[in-house]
Amino acid sequence: MTILLTGSSRGIGAAIYAALTSAGASVIGHGTASGIPADFSDPAGPTALWNAALEQAGGAIDVLINNAGVFEAAALADDDWTAQWERTMRINLTASAELCRLAVLHWQARGVGGRIVNIASRAAYRGDSPAHWHYAASKAGMVAMTKTIARGYAREGILAFAVCPGFTMTGMAKHYLSSRGGDALLADIPLGRVAAPEEIAAAAKFLALEAPASMTGSVIDVNGASYVR
Ligand SMILES: NC(=O)c1ccc[n+]([C@@H]2O[C@H](COP(=O)([O-])OP(=O)(O)OC[C@H]3O[C@@H](n4cnc5c(N)ncnc54)[C@H](OP(=O)(O)O)[C@@H]3O)[C@@H](O)[C@H]2O)c1
Repeated sequence: MTILLTGSSRGIGAAIYAALTSAGASVIGHGTASGIPADFSDPAGPTALWNAALEQAGGAIDVLINNAGVFEAAALADDDWTAQWERTMRINLTASAELCRLAVLHWQARGVGGRIVNIASRAAYRGDSPAHWHYAASKAGMVAMTKTIARGYAREGILAFAVCPGFTMTGMAKHYLSSRGGDALLADIPLGRVAAPEEIAAAAKFLALEAPASMTGSVIDVNGASYVR
């Protein structure tokens, strides 16, 4: 069982990496500080990562987890608003889509099934702040893509799932919490706290290794009931 996990260098990705390796899976990581480096703001990044991972894996990847992502602010008045939109879309959505495409083609060529786990966000359903139109849209796109893949390739044993975390205590969330006044944000979470990366990792590990095939197309919320659908 070989898994390609993007953004494994820190935060939620590092927790997913630890959960999967402790379950005995062979995980090929990706990031600047550890794993295979590949910048997704570069259009060549996702394909370069896939090819390097496939070589490292000896020609067979069984599971793809798209976790790498950015959460960057773009105020409406910013002159480079459109450039910011395109950067977030490319890193969060286009790179994930390209890796999903390469994975599906790879499984079809081998005549085997496979699994995709996309780390989206609560923002896909609830929306985000006025400075994060692009982020919410990129994550909603990820959810729609996951459902499309699930419906299109289930007969071939290719399964696709998404996880929608709410605020999760990583570098990204710490900055967000303090910039939004911390306690007020927590008051909006019935559980009374943000999620730990290990909680997102538990959901991702379940979907990657254990979830029954009939769950394909499902989206798992991990948000302390701060948004219930
Ligand atoms: N934290 C939250 O509250 C929260 C909530 C909902 C959803 N999420 C989602 O969960 C995922 C992980 O979030 P996190 O909080 O763990 O983030 P994080 O701590 O900021 O880590 C982000 C990861 O993405 C990689 N990455 C960033 N920019 C990249 C680029 N241009 N090209 C390739 N890789 C890049 C980073 O790799 P390097 O830095 O090593 O290059 C790092 O491994 C993201 O998709 C995020 O949208 C997070």
